[in-house]
Amino acid sequence: MLNAHITGWGMAVPERVMTNDDLSEFIETNDAWIRERTGIRERRVARETDFTSTLAVDASMRALKKANVRPTDLDLIICSTSTPEYLFPATACLIQDQLGATKAGAFDLLAACSGFIYALNMGAQAIRSGSVKTVLVIGSETLSRFVNWKDRNTCILFGDGAGAFILQADERPGGVLSAVMHSDGSGGDLLKLPSGGSRRPISETTYQDGEHYIQMDGREVFRFATRVMASATQEALTAAGLTVQDVRWIVPHQANVRIIEAAARGLKLPMDRFIVNLDRYGNTSTASIPIAMVEAAEAGKIQPGDKVVMVGFGAGLTWGALAAEWTGPLPSKGAARPERYRQLGRIRSWARRLIRFIEGLIYRREL
Ligand code: ACO
Repeated sequence: MLNAHITGWGMAVPERVMTNDDLSEFIETNDAWIRERTGIRERRVARETDFTSTLAVDASMRALKKANVRPTDLDLIICSTSTPEYLFPATACLIQDQLGATKAGAFDLLAACSGFIYALNMGAQAIRSGSVKTVLVIGSETLSRFVNWKDRNTCILFGDGAGAFILQADERPGGVLSAVMHSDGSGGDLLKLPSGGSRRPISETTYQDGEHYIQMDGREVFRFATRVMASATQEALTAAGLTVQDVRWIVPHQANVRIIEAAARGLKLPMDRFIVNLDRYGNTSTASIPIAMVEAAEAGKIQPGDKVVMVGFGAGLTWGALAAEWTGPLPSKGAARPERYRQLGRIRSWARRLIRFIEGLIYRREL
């Protein structure tokens, strides 16, 4: 049977850092409150030239390099995001074009902060089915574009960034071991972006009412999160035939350190078994788990053979967990040099647009 191995990883965050003190210059808050209630010290905020796709492409290039895989080897690109650049086309297609991944299918997946777990599971299932061999799974967000910077209940929490994994088929045991996915739409109102979809397209009224900003019932989301983190982790462990003692690291969604502490209590584990980096990035939604994984792998905390559980929750409501055995790059020949494909991809993209234009002229004459 084919297993889906995590063979490459990469992350990208905007350069611009916004500290709690920076926030307290324009809203009524302070560093002590934010650190005590959330654990967050600072977050990254996209500049005008940073987009969900550009952060994703930077993270993906690093993941491809790590795995020594060419963009043209990719069969499938799944971009998990709650902040797509457009309703359509899918951000995954913008990424496909920028990478020069000419053979890949591409689609977006929306499961809010649980999205990366859903996406990784979908990529792994596609590999197990035998239909694809190499998948790029991305979590990327520019939440700062949807945050109301006058709402201290939400704007202190979120940050921007992207993380990417390469999944490759291999017969060796390991890789993605199990996953559980849950949802409860009855809690959809607790965290939402009311306008901009087909139900409430943006109008003067929705704009005046601030419906184009993230709205959240923080306390209710907090209660829900503390309930599901430990139980989802246990479910994924049971499905993989593991116990919590077999696992080296738990990598939780980085929303609030108090939620992670509650999960640790629920699992009867010390906090030093959890990867936590929300102090520097805040809540980057679907990018938070891959960013935490990438930092831990780069720091040598996660080693090949280590078993990890990723666990998340988010708007929807959604929640889920995924158990995996860390693999690292598979043996490969030569240097893949993915950056060359990115450069050629730009030329290719323009050439395709030109061909489409010329074809259009010819077609019009034939009509
Ligand atoms: N600075 C200072 N004071 C504040 C701030 C702030 N930024 N925000 C709220 N307060 C005040 C409130 O007004 C309140 O004052 P009051 O008692 O006089 O009314 C007091 O602080 C306590 O407010 P609470 O809302 O009870 O604070 P709480 O401890 O619940 O923390 C928080 C709020 C951080 C939002 C917490 O509820 C939380 O983390 N919830 C989960 C949110 C989350 O994880 N969302 C993301 C989900 S993932 C996704 O899908 C994107």
